[in-house]
Amino acid sequence: MSIERPSEPSEPPEPSEPRLDPRPDPRSGARPPERIVLPGLTLRRAAEDDVPALLKALNDSFDHLHPWMPWAAEPQTLEAERAWIVQSRRNWEDGTDYAYLLECPDGAIAGTVGLHGRLGPGALEIGYWVHVAYIRRGFATRAAEAVTEVAFGLPGIERVEIHCDIANKRSAAVPSRLGYELIAVEDDVREAPAEEGPRMRWGMTREAWARRDA
Ligand SMILES: CC(C)(COP(=O)(O)OP(=O)(O)OC[C@H]1O[C@@H](n2cnc3c(N)ncnc32)[C@H](O)[C@@H]1OP(=O)(O)O)[C@@H](O)C(=O)NCCC(=O)NCCS
Repeated sequence: MSIERPSEPSEPPEPSEPRLDPRPDPRSGARPPERIVLPGLTLRRAAEDDVPALLKALNDSFDHLHPWMPWAAEPQTLEAERAWIVQSRRNWEDGTDYAYLLECPDGAIAGTVGLHGRLGPGALEIGYWVHVAYIRRGFATRAAEAVTEVAFGLPGIERVEIHCDIANKRSAAVPSRLGYELIAVEDDVREAPAEEGPRMRWGMTREAWARRDA
């Protein structure tokens, strides 16, 4: 995929200046690991044969997802999940979006976490949901922590954000636990039944993440 860059400035940028791109630098060829193994939880890139298990996880969790996820207005279908996995695999190839399944040691799908290249230059946004049978075990927090680390390992990524509706306290607790900063509460529209509208933007910088690890 070709991305337009602004025309070259008359003087070349300082070598130390990060080369920011509206995507996670697809042309660098850098991609995150396809499998991240944590104690008791594996994050892995979805494959086409995951469709039935993902569909079951989503529909078993319908009452839990419906209040918060605009895409969970109705139960999912096999066709929709197949299309989602095909698209997510294509996005991975293109270097625009990285979606991981959360997999338990017994192979059950416990949710998903994604790094989304929709914030513009130098930034990625994390999104997640956890199967209703696996909430309150730290899966979302640990998955978000792992993909934050992965994001800052990609060239040009200086900022990671997590957005959620102001009423979604359980979602907001995830970035808060990880030391993200609440950088703004912005007007937004209600897109799902439990939402109030205003959207919290939680942010982490590369520098702050490195300090946290030090
Ligand atoms: C948002 C959502 C993913 C949060 O799930 P969650 O279970 O609250 O979050 P976690 O998986 O990180 O679990 C956190 C809990 O596990 C506990 N925990 C146990 N081990 C832990 C560990 N190693 N690390 C962190 N927390 C741990 C925490 O103390 C916390 O407990 P508490 O519920 O008593 O406060 C979930 O509610 C969900 O799927 N909601 C519907 C979809 C949604 O809203 N998605 C986000 C849209 S913005």
